[in-house]
Amino acid sequence: MSFKNKSSKIRVYFQQGIHKFKGRKYLCSVKTESGQDIQQAISLLKKGETVAIPTETVYGLAADATNEDAVLQIFEAKGRPTSNPLILHFANIESIYPYVSEFPETLLALARQFSPGPITFILAKSSLVPAIITAGQETVAVRVPEHPMTLELLRSIDFPIAAPSANRYGGISPTTAGHVQSQLDGKIPYILDGGACQTGLESTIVGLANEKVIVYRLGGISIEALSESLGYVPEIKNELHHGVRTSGMVKYHYATETPLYFMDAEQQAYTDSDGFILFSKKNNPTKSEQHFYLSEEGNMNEAAKNLYAALHDMDQKGFKRIFIEAFPSDGLGKTMNDRLKRATAKFSN
Ligand code: TXA
Ligand code: MG
Repeated sequence: MSFKNKSSKIRVYFQQGIHKFKGRKYLCSVKTESGQDIQQAISLLKKGETVAIPTETVYGLAADATNEDAVLQIFEAKGRPTSNPLILHFANIESIYPYVSEFPETLLALARQFSPGPITFILAKSSLVPAIITAGQETVAVRVPEHPMTLELLRSIDFPIAAPSANRYGGISPTTAGHVQSQLDGKIPYILDGGACQTGLESTIVGLANEKVIVYRLGGISIEALSESLGYVPEIKNELHHGVRTSGMVKYHYATETPLYFMDAEQQAYTDSDGFILFSKKNNPTKSEQHFYLSEEGNMNEAAKNLYAALHDMDQKGFKRIFIEAFPSDGLGKTMNDRLKRATAKFSN
């Protein structure tokens, strides 16, 4: 919500809630609309507002990356600390160049192969990137998302958009407009509804160290696909002690409200009030209304597409506990196990 202070003609933006301004109290509430109007999304972004946008990975909460006040609203809507840097999104690889000081050939080759698509590059930033984007670091994360509506939007503006996943900080990433609405209602003006995300897992984050590609976050491009392209298996450095900060490294993340556990080998005493998220139909401990099958056919890509929706859905059903089957640890299964390790960590011990 915004209003103009008549005397100073300064536009003031407030989030939903009671705010004090010049000694008076104001109740502010943003009406969150959802629709397919790309022009409306563009015009809001140009005005310095935040808009949720669809990508192939998860929905992002976008703002003009060159407008510091707009970017601050992202952190506020998400409840995210500003120590956590944001990814810049571009319409194509060439538009990235002014915002980085160098795009090493090895990473450029990956960009050409996998973009638009679920891959993000950590590169040395140029002076065009505000410090609020990078949390003061000298590197910036950049990617070209693959979604027709968002690509059209990006082609129509002359600034990159900063966009973290459009969830409340620490929560499950949204893969539908409805997931965004349930977490950010009243906090942002518009959700550009582009349907369900095709990949369903965040982008793979890569960088270069000593001429070798390093994976900082597992994601929608598998280690196998990267290895095939590079001719070697890239090292994975996705834990906090590795020194590069990505929120996917935080121990507790992507978490449900309902306690979530892996179905482990030791037999649990399951009850009628437990819910189960199952990859295959092999494991079938209880009644069918307690189950969510990620893929009838046992297809990993389909399971990835449905994983966050399953967590959102099962979290709403009033189960006392949710149990989830671990995935085979190859392809996107490795990414999903990583996310679930962080989601279940909150409830262990
Ligand atoms: O698929 C995705 O990447 C989605 C869609 C919306 O594009 N975005 C996303 O953003 O997952 P977010 O903010 O939820 O996660 C981005 C991760 C964070 O863990 C952040 O710390 C890391 O990227 N990151 C951003 N800039 C970085 C930098 N300069 N160095 C290291 N990590 C960085
Ligand atoms: Mg996120």
